[in-house]
Amino acid sequence: MQETAARAGWRGVIEEYRRFLPVSEQTPVITMLEGGTPLIEAPRLSERVGARVWLKFEGLNPTCSFKDRGMTMAISKALERKAPAVICASTGNTSASAAAYAGRAGMTCAVLVPEGKIALGKMAQALAYGARVLEIRGNFDRALEIVRELGEKAGLEIVNSINPFRIQGQKTGAFEIVDVLGDAPDIHCIPVGNAGNITAYWKGYREYLEAGISTHTPRMLGFQAEGAAPLVHGHPIENPSTVATAIRIGNPASWKGAEEAISASSGAVNIVTDEEILAAQSLLATSEGVYCEPASAASVSGLLKFGVPEGSKVVCILTGHGLKDPDITIKSVPKPPVVDADYAAVCSALGL
Ligand code: F0G
Repeated sequence: MQETAARAGWRGVIEEYRRFLPVSEQTPVITMLEGGTPLIEAPRLSERVGARVWLKFEGLNPTCSFKDRGMTMAISKALERKAPAVICASTGNTSASAAAYAGRAGMTCAVLVPEGKIALGKMAQALAYGARVLEIRGNFDRALEIVRELGEKAGLEIVNSINPFRIQGQKTGAFEIVDVLGDAPDIHCIPVGNAGNITAYWKGYREYLEAGISTHTPRMLGFQAEGAAPLVHGHPIENPSTVATAIRIGNPASWKGAEEAISASSGAVNIVTDEEILAAQSLLATSEGVYCEPASAASVSGLLKFGVPEGSKVVCILTGHGLKDPDITIKSVPKPPVVDADYAAVCSALGL
């Protein structure tokens, strides 16, 4: 049980899990002490689904998403190889994380994002951290194709999850869950976009089993948004669409990794609608006090929609913070009333 270690003296995922990671004494570690995120019990949700549910709140990483776990590895290894510049395609979070870690390492960072389709907070982050941001007239899948070409022809270091060091770093999320629970959960619920994260978690759970730290691996349940569900349909989606812009992806790069995780764990991949995603996001905020972004809520909406065997231990990954995408919330809840600045007016508005 490393719960205490996670709260005091946490050293970031590379130092905490060095023996499981491809780093050496020569690797310069670029870290902002990512990882060590809380595994929060969710009593209301547990009661609703008849299971014990925990939320792994990845929104509490340095750039407020799970991407930092992989980025500390990708940027440290890029610096070790003395790469002058890094590049990524992104629906927003990867660009924020790449920009922050590259800046800290003194590297140039360029990011390609789909025009008008990334959340406000993520755009602000990429710009604030000093990345060269290009909005492309096309979607994430097209941006990633161009990034692959730049990697091959222009020799830029790609820090998308097609970079194996990203997956290595992200697998530490599974280690932390097992360290805190004392064993693997029965069920692991996760949103799926480009499919790197489900691939990484499965790798982490398998490695802990092989190391004798856990006694089993969980069933991996992946969830995709209705308009962006290539894995569920079994073919790429040309024009993916969903309110959860982070997972607006039609042709996931880690397709095979996701399939492997799902079949080897007797898991499943299923569809949740935008309405279900937003309802789960709201439920988490109002009844558990945890505000995550829409894509993250896909894991919980899937749990609510498809259920789990009674009494199961379930972990839902909440991949990013709600403040990344404030527009969605402001648009979907009633506007607060404006009242005069006097006692009586406030009482009357509150119905007192
Ligand atoms: N949740 C959030 C908040 C994300 O930002 C992403 C992916 C996912 C879930 C899906 O994870 O791609 O590993 O299956 N965001 C990427 C990006 C694509 O560019 O920020 P995945």
